[in-house]
Amino acid sequence: MKQIYLDHAATTPMAQEVLEAMLPYFTERYGNPSSLHAFGQDAKEGIEQARQTIAEFIHANPDEIVFTGSGTESDNTVIKGVVHTLRAKGNHIVTSGIEHHAIHEPLHFLEQQGYQVTYLPVDATGLVDPDEVKRAITGKTILVSVMHANNEIGTIEPIAEIGRIAHEAGVLFHTDAVQTFGHVPIDVDVLGIDLLSASAHKLYGPKGVGLLYIRKGTRIAPLLHGGDQEKRRRASTQNVPGIVGFGKAVELAGAEIGTEAARQTVLRDALIEGLLGSIPDSRLNGHPRQRLPNNANVSIAFIEGEAMLLNLDMEGIAVSTGSACTSSSLEPSHVLTAIGLSHELAHGSLRFTLGRATTQEEIEQVMRVLPGIVKKLRAMSPLSKKAAQ
Ligand SMILES: Cc1ncc(COP(=O)(O)O)c(C=O)c1O
Repeated sequence: MKQIYLDHAATTPMAQEVLEAMLPYFTERYGNPSSLHAFGQDAKEGIEQARQTIAEFIHANPDEIVFTGSGTESDNTVIKGVVHTLRAKGNHIVTSGIEHHAIHEPLHFLEQQGYQVTYLPVDATGLVDPDEVKRAITGKTILVSVMHANNEIGTIEPIAEIGRIAHEAGVLFHTDAVQTFGHVPIDVDVLGIDLLSASAHKLYGPKGVGLLYIRKGTRIAPLLHGGDQEKRRRASTQNVPGIVGFGKAVELAGAEIGTEAARQTVLRDALIEGLLGSIPDSRLNGHPRQRLPNNANVSIAFIEGEAMLLNLDMEGIAVSTGSACTSSSLEPSHVLTAIGLSHELAHGSLRFTLGRATTQEEIEQVMRVLPGIVKKLRAMSPLSKKAAQ
């Protein structure tokens, strides 16, 4: 059976070119980049080349890029680093109610220590209202953190406007760009970003490598203290092959960013239209247009997302319910409840995220298979029988 992978928001397969760029750094070019001899300098050069490529990609300065161990680490560094550095100025952070757990969990941790956090609501499409950001900022606010695009429903947030509002109030602006980096163009100046998180494994790079963009002049305490690596902003010997792979992944993404987004948008819209047209009592989650080119998230009434996921899996089709991180818990996703879905509709959600290798035939196969699965499950579902009465 042909396998169809439609879970690229969870992770992407590593590109062959990325693997080839990384391989020498595991074997012949194994120096420690902090060593002064030729082996060390060779490894350092690999890192600096990647830093240059990535900085150019987002119109930043190489000095403003810090390599980390993951998107989660970058998010934690921002949340904990900013409050540490600016604790004399204030104790209040503004964020949205639909951020990834890598933002919400460190914020919950800080709340236990007396910090104040405002979790802004979103509208039914998942958009944060910039005016709400303005109203939430107080004299004690030290950080506004709103994600670039949501990992579950794909909505792209108005971050340029949010960044401008934060700056007008003299507050730092961070965006979690883990889902957009390499997929949607990013210019840190145009978008008014002070701090940005990204992760290589979401753009055909290796797992376990992230980055934090820190605008020049922004002071932020490190999460890891130790050696002098990354200009003392993140101690520990760098993951040289991983960073080289990240650089290669960004180079590949940069070469195709416009064309690939347009191609995926066509397939995404065909999938959304096809599913909503053939499955009664189904709806799209997230914004109809202002959304990631590869994301289609639908709720299908009267049945469980997990049951659909497992049935699709038996047909060789890999999708997700909610985000990969929440899919093992029984609680409905905080994102789907934030956009106003009932528990039942939130539980009946499926996320399809397309990728570079996704074809029209694969999309057609999903559209052939899913309506039959829904029919079968609904025939067994007590909820659906109740609704029919
Ligand atoms: C929006 C968002 N932020 C952060 C993360 C965490 O990134 P990582 O897997 O590199 O820790 C993810 C991963 O799914 C994500 O989607």
